[in-house]
Amino acid sequence: METSKIVVYFPLLILLCNLPGFLAQVYSVRSFSATGNGQTDDTNAVRAALAAAAKSNGGSVLFDAGYTFLTGPFNVTSNVILDIRGKILGSNQSSAYSVSSPTGDYDPLIGINNANNITITGGGVVDGQGGIWWPCAQSPNTGNPPCNNRHRQVKKNSFYRGLG
Ligand SMILES: *[C@@H]1O[C@H](CO)[C@@H](O)[C@H](O)[C@H]1NC(C)=O
Ligand SMILES: *[C@@H]1O[C@H](CO)[C@@H](O)[C@H](O)[C@H]1NC(C)=O
Ligand SMILES: *[C@@H]1O[C@H](CO)[C@@H](O)[C@H](O)[C@H]1NC(C)=O
Repeated sequence: METSKIVVYFPLLILLCNLPGFLAQVYSVRSFSATGNGQTDDTNAVRAALAAAAKSNGGSVLFDAGYTFLTGPFNVTSNVILDIRGKILGSNQSSAYSVSSPTGDYDPLIGINNANNITITGGGVVDGQGGIWWPCAQSPNTGNPPCNNRHRQVKKNSFYRGLG
């Protein structure tokens, strides 16, 4: 009798303890066709995973461990958990970034506008490849790649450190 009670209640306890994580629907960027090979442009897949999460008013957007996701800028909306277990590699092509953010600056790699309850976790790495933009900040009008006469808002566009 006692044994059967334990058997019945144990799964319920596990469920209750994991409630926040359990409720967060997982949107793996790989399930949105990101290759994660570090070479292919995975921007569309990353944005699609985030758009799906936004449509459901949040969820966990997973960048899997062991993969490198080369991507242009993307926006994160409310109630999203960016679960970065692998590596996000920011595109180093100036053409990937456009001037469309509310401030008139270039889009940041990871954009958050009028949003709340965003979590960045996972112990992975965000590599904005910031180094190549620094000369552009110092002399924006060289006309040489990657500056191409475009002034980079370097501070706002790049993350340099791992999160973990
Ligand atoms: C914050 O986001 C998480 C993950 O989507 C969600 O489980 C939680 O309910 C949200 N909290 C609030 C106060 O909206
Ligand atoms: C630009 O990024 C690509 C893809 O990650 C990389 O192969 C290349 O070496 C980078 N170029 C520079 C100048 O860092
Ligand atoms: C991010 O949001 C800003 C503000 O709404 C918008 O201007 C920009 O185009 C968005 N960027 C992407 C990559 O969706």
